[in-house]
Amino acid sequence: MIRSVIRGTGSYLPEHIMTNEALTERVDTTDEWIRERTGIRQRHIAAEGETTSDLATHAAKRAIKDAGLEASDIDLIVLATTTPDYTFPATATIVQERLGMHHGAAFDVQAVCSGFIYAIKVVDAMLRTGAAKNALVIGAETFSRLLDWDDRTTCVLFGDGAGAVVMSAEEGEGTNEDRGMLSTLIRSDGRHRELLYVDGGPSKTGTVGHVRMIGNQVFRHAVTDIAAAMKECAAQVGLDMTDVDYCVPHQANQRILDGVGKRLKLRPEQVISTVALHANTSAASVPLALDTAIKDGRIKDGHLVMLEAFGGGFTWGAALFRL
Ligand code: UT7
Repeated sequence: MIRSVIRGTGSYLPEHIMTNEALTERVDTTDEWIRERTGIRQRHIAAEGETTSDLATHAAKRAIKDAGLEASDIDLIVLATTTPDYTFPATATIVQERLGMHHGAAFDVQAVCSGFIYAIKVVDAMLRTGAAKNALVIGAETFSRLLDWDDRTTCVLFGDGAGAVVMSAEEGEGTNEDRGMLSTLIRSDGRHRELLYVDGGPSKTGTVGHVRMIGNQVFRHAVTDIAAAMKECAAQVGLDMTDVDYCVPHQANQRILDGVGKRLKLRPEQVISTVALHANTSAASVPLALDTAIKDGRIKDGHLVMLEAFGGGFTWGAALFRL
């Protein structure tokens, strides 16, 4: 049985760090409020002229090197973003060109903060059916470009960054002891669009627009739907959350991470958290956190790892793999 195995990871954060303190000069907020309600202490913000493809290319190069491959070995790039360089072409094709890769296929996936999980789902299916051999899966955002810097209910929550993984098709035994993706699950429900959306777009307004969110309502849906998705994702292959070594969640709010962890009886140290340092980087948050926890030695070969995310749409999902 062919499995899609994570062979390497990489990430990149823009140089400039914006602290909570710096935000108090722009909007009526406090460091204390932001830390207590979200766990966020700082976020990275892309420099003027620095684009999503710039961040994505840095992360991709690091992931390819980590996998011990060359860009020429990659035959598929799927990039999750809500903040593409251009309305078209896909940011993935810009990364493809910058990696010097002129074969295979590259395209974007748009599922906002759940984009990386959606991209994993697509790539897993393509690798297992022989459509590609070595894929780059990237989550990259310059989310700061969508923020209304006068709206304190949203501008304090987000940051910029990119994370990437290389996934390769490898032969497995067909058991849960195999390395690679064991189970993936994606869901959406378009009825909740107005709780989390951007008020612009090429077809509707001809503008890029700004993020709008009814945070406390999104919060309630997120905790319930994420917990259910992770349970179902594990159950699809006859496992449950007690089998999982680590959970790498979407980094929206420390209180969501704590709430979901509690519901699923995970120990706090099993839940990887980077929200304090990165804030919410939308589609980049899961691969950024995954790269952090692999590089610092917490997640090791053989560990069973659950990824999850929740975002605008609503969209949400989970993916279970063995490193
Ligand atoms: O990544 C996609 C998914 N997104 C999420 O999962 C985000 C989910 N939501 C959240 O993380 C939280 O709901 C927030 C962090 C956005 C807000 O926390 P909350 O505990 O749900 O607060 P709230 O929205 O109920 O607001 C409480 C108060 C309000 O004041 P009043 O009406 O009680 O007087 C807000 O106006 O906090 C006020 N407030 C602020 N105060 C200081 C809102 N933003 C700020 C701020 N600084 N930045």
